[in-house]
Amino acid sequence: MPAISASAPAKGILFGEHAVVYGYPAIAVPVHQVSARAVVTPWIKGASGKIHIDAPQVGVDADLERLSQNDPLGAAVRGALNALGIQQPPAFKLRITSTIPLAAGLGSGAAVSVAIVRAVSAFLGSPSSDEQVSALAFEVEKLHHGTPSGIDNTVVTYGEPVYFVKDEAIQTFQVNKPFTLLIADTGIPSPTRIAVGDVRAGFQQEPERYKKIFEDIGDIAEKARKTIETGSNEALGELMDQNHSLLEKLGVSSPELDKLVSAAKQAGAKGAKLSGAGRGGNMIALAEEKQAEVKVALLAAGAKGVIQTVVQ
Ligand code: PMV
Repeated sequence: MPAISASAPAKGILFGEHAVVYGYPAIAVPVHQVSARAVVTPWIKGASGKIHIDAPQVGVDADLERLSQNDPLGAAVRGALNALGIQQPPAFKLRITSTIPLAAGLGSGAAVSVAIVRAVSAFLGSPSSDEQVSALAFEVEKLHHGTPSGIDNTVVTYGEPVYFVKDEAIQTFQVNKPFTLLIADTGIPSPTRIAVGDVRAGFQQEPERYKKIFEDIGDIAEKARKTIETGSNEALGELMDQNHSLLEKLGVSSPELDKLVSAAKQAGAKGAKLSGAGRGGNMIALAEEKQAEVKVALLAAGAKGVIQTVVQ
């Protein structure tokens, strides 16, 4: 059996985060500039059924049996084996590396799960279909997030822009005119579970107010899809700004995110918003022109890193 590797991109949410958990539409795109990679090699001296996992960035260097049921890496491997009905695989070693910042709203957890399922299933001779990969990664997302919408595993698996509605079949759509995004990292880790939990608590306390905000966010995502399909990229910036204001009302922005959003706008971005769970993590800016100026402004306003990507 030869070594097998698989990788999966990061993702950015363009519109609709948080509201998507409650059934409203959202738009997400793959970010191919950073990715997660899983490499499976046969473990010639390992006893049958033995699996060793090495993920230096998260400090894991252990046999699968030593990882708890809640460990996301272990869960992805077990999920892939169970889906194939294999209990005693030939011994193998799995190495996982990633260039995606952790807990930053870029879908690193989903990308790692997708890469693992693809590599393990291919190594065992039955590569999982995209549908299976996404479903298995979704199960692992539940360990990260609690109540994930499924948007992360979907966009990361399919690797193309998606219009996503929870529990509905994936919808891809045409990007009429490619556009450039700058993705800037506050450097503040933000576990999705906490922001999602706080929004849920707010929704339980003030259901009507939150429902209205979710509806408005859903309307923006729907308009944005039409805008992207028709290539009216100017209007896209305005929709991003509106979406950011609504996320502020949900209480998921932060002074650091707001600072990056204003800096991007002042430097010439057509629109900007936080992306993902919020509180920390990343923001995105639509930079059709003045990309260099916007990038400099973001770094000056405290961004720890800026990724440039073209949505197409
Ligand atoms: O993984 P993140 O931080 O990009 O957040 C995912 C987006 C949320 O809408 C906040 C949660 C979800 O499950 O959709």
